[in-house]
Amino acid sequence: MAAEHIQTPKGTRDFFPADMRLQNHVFDGWRSVCRSFGYEEYEGPTFEHLELYVGKSGPEIVEQLYHFKDKGDRDLALRPELTPTLARMVNAKGPALRKPLKWFSIPRLYRYERAQRGRLREFFQLNMDIVGCDTVAAEADLIAAVIEMLRGFGLGSSDFAVRIASRALLSEFLDRLGVAADCKAGVYAALDKRAKIGEAEFRRLLDELGAGNVTPDLERFFQCRSLQDLTQVFPDPSAGEHAALQDLQNLFTLLAGLGLEDSLTIDTSVVRGLAYYTGIVFEVFDKGIGLRALAGGGRYDSLMASLGGAPVSAVGFGMGDVVLAELLKEKDLLPQGRSGVDYYLADLASGELPRAEMLALAQRLRGAGRSVAYSLKGGKFKKQMEEANDAGAKRVLFFGSDRAPAGSFEVKDLASGEQQVLEEALL
Ligand code: HAM
Repeated sequence: MAAEHIQTPKGTRDFFPADMRLQNHVFDGWRSVCRSFGYEEYEGPTFEHLELYVGKSGPEIVEQLYHFKDKGDRDLALRPELTPTLARMVNAKGPALRKPLKWFSIPRLYRYERAQRGRLREFFQLNMDIVGCDTVAAEADLIAAVIEMLRGFGLGSSDFAVRIASRALLSEFLDRLGVAADCKAGVYAALDKRAKIGEAEFRRLLDELGAGNVTPDLERFFQCRSLQDLTQVFPDPSAGEHAALQDLQNLFTLLAGLGLEDSLTIDTSVVRGLAYYTGIVFEVFDKGIGLRALAGGGRYDSLMASLGGAPVSAVGFGMGDVVLAELLKEKDLLPQGRSGVDYYLADLASGELPRAEMLALAQRLRGAGRSVAYSLKGGKFKKQMEEANDAGAKRVLFFGSDRAPAGSFEVKDLASGEQQVLEEALL
């Protein structure tokens, strides 16, 4: 293949400055809410030992792994998600980390997915996790943060909904139906991709797992859309079912106390494809457009122990950049244009090189906290003004204007068109 024909690999993106601007808008929105909720940022490696994912993340993610052998014959994988890394890091420090931890990260992730709207092979995902909190206070904190974040981008309760369910309750229900414990992960994965694979394939998968006979009962469970519906399916709950129902009730009470009930629904069809969830699970969907999930997460109280650490509870979620950006675009909520430099210095001498005195002024202004650009090529005034516009400059300073006495400069505000002469200290 000729070099000029080489394109980005399928499912990856180039970020030209205009794309990067939008990306930064999303990242800034994420970061500011994480910080306002008191989460600390962390990061891990982009590749890990393959075994960190196999058997922990669940069959679907393992099928999508980019894995390889390095030159030392080690089996490694590009990270498809951050949660196993977080668990590994928490285990590595053990009790030295004071719990509960509230951590966030914005990793770049890799999944060999079928290319489709909202799904890429390389993407970013905000992760927010709380480690070491047993009660639904953790879920409430995370869900409040998701809602705050989406509102910060300009979305309202008519644009998205947080759908909440309980993996613990589903697990208890599968016990009631006699589904073997070692089949459950397969059943969750099948349920999670049911809409994607279609009914016939879904039933075939359940048959294969020996759970083909349970569908009518499952249907009844999956039609529940309120706590009331659930109490009808569980009129006489076991201790485990009771605890799971109580968690849902407590979570709704806490979030309703924050006035967030408009953005929440119980939706038992939310199962989550990943294997490690043990309690409440949730996903965020847009309303009306039908994009894929904006975010998903839940409680995973056994993951640290399953990776050899001390048992510790954890809850978290991931929100991808791709679907969120699509939704913001659909709703016209992405920022337009460039927010550029404070000053563009136009050199009226229009020589081939900018004047050294002008560069010195630029340096002084930067030292005073202003952002400053100027033409590297000098040239005609009109050209420099075009460059100032392209740079998104707020003001142009006419360097060498004879209307400004020594120590002052003639400045034009590009938004208002207003022109004035200012002393350097006032710039
Ligand atoms: P997940 O449901 O696999 O969960 O991913 C969460 C979000 O990441 C999705 O809702 C979607 O926005 C985004 N996402 C996933 N795959 C892709 C893709 N191929 N392209 C673009 N966006 C994608 C997890 O990853 C869990 N580890 C989240 C978590 C954190 N649970 C607890 N803590």
